[in-house]
Amino acid sequence: MFRCFFAVTLIACSLAAIVPDATETEEFKQWSGRIVGGHEATPGQFPYQASMRSAANAHFCGGSIINRRWVVCAAHCTNNRLLANTMVVVGAHHRVTGGTTHSVERIVNHPNFSQISLANDISMVRSATDFVESASVRFIQLEPNFIITGFPATSSGWGQTTNPGSAAENLQFLHVEVITNEECRSRLTLTNAARIGDTTICVSSPDGQGLCMGDSGGPLTYGGRLIGAVSWGVPCGTAAPDMFARISAVHGCLAATVPDATETEEFKQWSGRIVGGNTATPGQFPYQASMRNAANSHFCGGSLINRRWVVCASHCTVNRLLANTIIVVGAHHRVTGGITHPVERIVNHPNYSSITLANDVSLVRSATDFIESETVGFIQLEPNFIITGFPATSSGWGQTTNPGSAAEILQFLNVEVITNEECRSRLTLTNAARIGETTICVSSPNGQGLCMGDSGGPLTYGGRLIGAVSWGVPCGTAAPDMFGRISAVHAWLVSVIDV
Ligand SMILES: *[C@@H]1O[C@H](CO)[C@@H](O)[C@H](O)[C@H]1NC(C)=O
Ligand SMILES: *[C@@H]1O[C@H](CO)[C@@H](O)[C@H](O)[C@H]1NC(C)=O
Repeated sequence: MFRCFFAVTLIACSLAAIVPDATETEEFKQWSGRIVGGHEATPGQFPYQASMRSAANAHFCGGSIINRRWVVCAAHCTNNRLLANTMVVVGAHHRVTGGTTHSVERIVNHPNFSQISLANDISMVRSATDFVESASVRFIQLEPNFIITGFPATSSGWGQTTNPGSAAENLQFLHVEVITNEECRSRLTLTNAARIGDTTICVSSPDGQGLCMGDSGGPLTYGGRLIGAVSWGVPCGTAAPDMFARISAVHGCLAATVPDATETEEFKQWSGRIVGGNTATPGQFPYQASMRNAANSHFCGGSLINRRWVVCASHCTVNRLLANTIIVVGAHHRVTGGITHPVERIVNHPNYSSITLANDVSLVRSATDFIESETVGFIQLEPNFIITGFPATSSGWGQTTNPGSAAEILQFLNVEVITNEECRSRLTLTNAARIGETTICVSSPNGQGLCMGDSGGPLTYGGRLIGAVSWGVPCGTAAPDMFGRISAVHAWLVSVIDV
């Protein structure tokens, strides 16, 4: 697993600096290097423990020795570090004296390390000389499995030297409990909870002590294997968990999370903008639904998939009252015409995230049957993963959050489905981090209509529904538009629809 990780990381290892950097926050700085409630280790108790030092022998981070040349560390420790100013000390008990010093010949930061979310906060440091095993120098195996919970896990370290007065002289350790990521999120602020992804593993001290055992880059072990590298935490005494990079996940996919996407200015500006679309003819999109409030005000689009169910976007229907939701089918105009149906059930995807907009698909059940006609028809769900394709078609009226710019008559746009990789490459790092398996991106091939937006509405390809309009970035930036990917939630859709 790590051989593969190296191969990838050697090619691309530097990340451009970006927006709100977690490592720049006061919270993060306060946490760094605090050690509370730890026990002093006996010499040789943690032979895999490494001390990362500057050329002046100042300890700056911990590390774990995994074989005769490599140390696992945290990317936030080694990002932008010069080889000439980095050494590895092994077999040490004291933070300043003793141990064997090795110079460093290579630093490989995880290519998907994010300073924003601290996802993939892992790095590898290669010694220029072999570590020689002894009573105080040994290697620790990597844990390939996803550890959900566990006790006791053990973390050790000296604390960072950014606050030298409080750093430990002798190696300290602490037994901690691995908690689920769900529990972890529930014990953090929303901003911090958003940083807990698949590449994070959280621990809690079961007795309420030592909650800020921190020695960045250092080991977290469980069952004799390395399961984490110390990543970040929040200030001591708040009963909050501490976060480690999850060893089993370092080769997994990007699971970055950032503050709630639906709250950003970008998202709000995008909502409901329709540019460069064409006016539909009546009945051209018989599966198009208009989701309205009780006052007949259109708030989102939808797609009719059978005589009772409409596919919509979770961000449209989350927290919506049934009594304030109606479905209008067979409409051409945004306000007049069509047939109105009351709603009897709204089912949001259980894994919808307003943070990442993953699984942004929902189902709305009409209380009465939709009657097929010239202007009312159903569209089939696409069960297959569409990688690329042209033309795909999206239609809608635009949201009424900005009524002046909403279309009176249904609009449509032919767009091109692009790969998720291309999509990421055309977005800012923050937005790229939101493109996952449950997203499908489109681009307008001629540079127009890039912000065709009518949340919840259809994206079709080859006569089937492949997406529900989810989100985008403001118009004119040549950025793609994002949809909830139907094939990714197909099994769920089928399990819910019952007609
Ligand atoms: C980094 O992210 C990209 C895009 O998600 C992915 O293809 C690649 O495998 C990731 N790299 C590693 C080493 O996980
Ligand atoms: C939601 O996520 C959980 C945990 O990953 C998974 O077990 C479950 O199948 C998901 N539910 C759906 C409907 O995809």
